[in-house]
Amino acid sequence: MQLTHEEERMLAGEQGHATRKAMQILVALGKIYGAERMVPVTSVQVSGVSYKNLGDAGLEFLSGLAEDGKARVKTTLNPAGMNLTDWRSQGIDDEFAGKQLEVIDAYRRLGAEVSCTCTPYLAGNEPTFGEHIAWGESSAVVYANSVIGARTNREGGPSALAASLTGRTPLYGMHLDENREATHVVGVEAPLRTPEDFAAMGYFVGRAVKDGIPYFRGVKQAGLEELKLLSAALASSGGVAMFHMGGITPEAGASPTHAEKVPFTSQDLAETCALLNDEGTPDFVSVGCPHLSLTEVATVARLLDGKKAITEFWICCSREVKRKSDLVGYSRVIEGSGAKFATDTCMVVAPVEELGYKVVATNSAKACHYLRNSGLGVRFMPLEDCVMEATKKR
Ligand code: F3S
Repeated sequence: MQLTHEEERMLAGEQGHATRKAMQILVALGKIYGAERMVPVTSVQVSGVSYKNLGDAGLEFLSGLAEDGKARVKTTLNPAGMNLTDWRSQGIDDEFAGKQLEVIDAYRRLGAEVSCTCTPYLAGNEPTFGEHIAWGESSAVVYANSVIGARTNREGGPSALAASLTGRTPLYGMHLDENREATHVVGVEAPLRTPEDFAAMGYFVGRAVKDGIPYFRGVKQAGLEELKLLSAALASSGGVAMFHMGGITPEAGASPTHAEKVPFTSQDLAETCALLNDEGTPDFVSVGCPHLSLTEVATVARLLDGKKAITEFWICCSREVKRKSDLVGYSRVIEGSGAKFATDTCMVVAPVEELGYKVVATNSAKACHYLRNSGLGVRFMPLEDCVMEATKKR
């Protein structure tokens, strides 16, 4: 692998222990994937922020790097395992909170912005078309590659952090034109009436194409909210890093003629929704996976106006979206109903299963997938139904 003089110096340890370790990780990755050289990145999104996922080994690794490491490019963080200032109202115990705050402190010393959101593109980390980036949140990776047209592989926690500390990533995979072409054409026959229908479609297609690149044909309209839910679902049931949508995403072009065909019918839609539903009455409701946009928060506020949340109800969004929501009055309505904002965290990376809940209602196919893996029952339903569920008298 060809390294520049500067990269050689990093590898030799001339720029500190953390930079050397980071460059070792990137060189090893580059060799595995056959990269000819490194490419500079303009931003990094680090996943692996929740202490629930990192554990003590992860915390120790981070603390070691933080001794002399510093981010060289804009670096933002994925959600943590709790609200960083008001964890007690979420039922988080002090021991977990103490460890989580140590994790955040290490990232802060490394120069990361404590944004703690999986929608960095809604909170100040906004790459543009063609930019090389190194993001580690799978839903944001799909969104960035597909909707923005930036270029990133699905980074793991260590490789994203290594990119942050060096400002580089190995040039392979989604950074190269030839790897961004569609492998499958999805003929969308089902009517897509709600954003959650896009989530269900993503879940179905992710299972079908695995780590392929689907090209959606026949979708007439899709906005940020639909594409965000679709991205998250594709990356959870499958290993998708990018999709194209005819007439909607920037690199879609014409529908490929040679790619494998995957129909998505009304029956597929209905069966996927059924697949994402377990038995049982929800004792916890949460929306915002990926974190909500301000438009979605506005919808929640409208639906909650004049109602009381009877079941525990988390509204997951970034601090930035919450700040805007405070300014326009949505937060007053939402908090007045008894629902809780869950900024800095989400229902998946917080230790929800340890808080005693059994069945979670959500409008996210991705959340259903991972909550089930944590042993919880799930109910998949549109945003409006989630609000109804949370306010229903039992
Ligand atoms: Fe974000 Fe948590 Fe979902 S990190 S994409 S809200 S699992």
